[in-house]
Amino acid sequence: MASKAHKRSLAVSRMKGLVLSLSPFSKVAEEYRSTRTNLYFLMKNKGSKSLVVTSAKKGEGKSTSVTNLAISMAKGNEKVLIVDANFRRPFVHTIFNLPNQLGFLDVLKGTLPMKEVMYHSYVPNLDVLTSGDLSSNSLEVINSQRIIAFLEEVSQQYDRIIIDAPPILEAAEVRFLASRSDGVILISCKNKTKIDEFAEAKRALEVAGANLIGVVLNEKNQSLLDGYFF
Ligand SMILES: Nc1ncnc2c1ncn2[C@@H]1O[C@H](COP(=O)(O)OP(=O)(O)O)[C@@H](O)[C@H]1O
Ligand SMILES: [Mg+2]
Repeated sequence: MASKAHKRSLAVSRMKGLVLSLSPFSKVAEEYRSTRTNLYFLMKNKGSKSLVVTSAKKGEGKSTSVTNLAISMAKGNEKVLIVDANFRRPFVHTIFNLPNQLGFLDVLKGTLPMKEVMYHSYVPNLDVLTSGDLSSNSLEVINSQRIIAFLEEVSQQYDRIIIDAPPILEAAEVRFLASRSDGVILISCKNKTKIDEFAEAKRALEVAGANLIGVVLNEKNQSLLDGYFF
């Protein structure tokens, strides 16, 4: 059953995105550690646990950032849960080489408890809740009340909950997630994110009443991440 520890070791050489596992001394890994430290500083005194990561559009580095930040936090000795909330284009299960028949959608629906569907990853302290299968579910299960109940439950079990959200300009449910979580990180991708789309994304988060705590600038070609924070 899915609740058993996921012991299969990853073919990490295929996972070029997992910089902290592959090359902990690289400049990119250092950037993630620095981003993590900035986040801690900002979230610390507020008892903040849940963090939504979104961007204006797809392909801007959300899943990559979520995974690396979560690994960085787990390596900092915190108990971390990654949640894949990008139901239309889930990617976390691919990164961690996990099945995705069951997941977050089933927990939101209330048909299965969290512990039945989450996986312990190969990284100590890091658990993963994949998105679940949208073809056998409906997006109707995603509403504010269910998200609040879910976040309350997992906040008792984890130090940090990092949510890989869909692009805010493409999926209405991001607003629920963003407004119910403790903080939001907006990813911007160099040479990809358009300035007007970025501004629209930022505005949408403000309208939703989200606590936008920072922007991460993802630079794909040079594999460089940088962050600035409000
Ligand atoms: N900093 C980076 N360096 C190199 N490749 C990257 C970087 N960030 C993202 N990518 C690659 O770009 C693609 C899209 O990134 P992803 O994190 O899946 O975006 P999103 O989740 O926003 O759709 C993936 O193939 C990923 O491996
Ligand atoms: Mg993604």
